Amino acid sequence: MDITIRDARPEEYGAVGELTAQVYLGDGLLTFGEADEYLTELRDAARRAARAELLVAVDGAADGGAEGELLGTVTFVGDGGELAEVAAEGEAEFRMLAVRPEARGRGAGEALVRACLRRARARGLRRVVLSSQSHLHTAHRLYRRLGFVRAPERDWEPIPGFTLHAFAVDLAPGRDQRHNI
Ligand SMILES: CC(C)(COP(=O)(O)OP(=O)(O)OC[C@H]1O[C@@H](n2cnc3c(N)ncnc32)[C@H](O)[C@@H]1OP(=O)(O)O)[C@@H](O)C(=O)NCCC(=O)NCCS
Repeated sequence: MDITIRDARPEEYGAVGELTAQVYLGDGLLTFGEADEYLTELRDAARRAARAELLVAVDGAADGGAEGELLGTVTFVGDGGELAEVAAEGEAEFRMLAVRPEARGRGAGEALVRACLRRARARGLRRVVLSSQSHLHTAHRLYRRLGFVRAPERDWEPIPGFTLHAFAVDLAPGRDQRHNI
């Protein structure tokens, strides 16, 4: 079935926040599990929609048919602000990429990242960056497939001893051709 990527609608914010929280919990991305303070931020999709662009992947509708269920989400930060963690001037960042376990392996994650790349390009930005836990190999393979490379000089620690690995892709024209973005 087709996958559509679009902006989340206000009536979906609750479900999008819960999807993000459940993926982070289920995949073991939260050091303190249910007690992790970051859960509140993950659930607050309305804040992400207000301060950045909250995208969703849903089943179907590419041919004009009815949309199906929510598959995943990502937050595109194209204009800095409080949601930008590693993006500098002229760069976009994306955060909180999450696809429901039952919906994985169908390209929803890749489609969400590609949508971020397109939005960055449309804004005339020169690079897209992100930071990620070091063990998220599935996500890292996806990023590399789309042209991202490690940018260790931009690794950072949200809390002491907990290092996030930075990745970046240049949106220079030659790069676009090679990675078809
Ligand atoms: C990373 C993630 C978003 C990818 O979503 P996705 O929709 O499965 O992405 P894709 O379909 O584009 O495929 C990504 C890869 O996962 C593989 N995959 C993962 N789960 C799969 C499953 N259940 N069935 C089949 N393939 C699966 C795909 O084959 C593909 O592998 P490849 O890179 O070797 O080709 C998803 O695994 C996820 O939500 N992970 C937990 C949260 C996370 O790590 N977020 C990133 C934070 S930086």
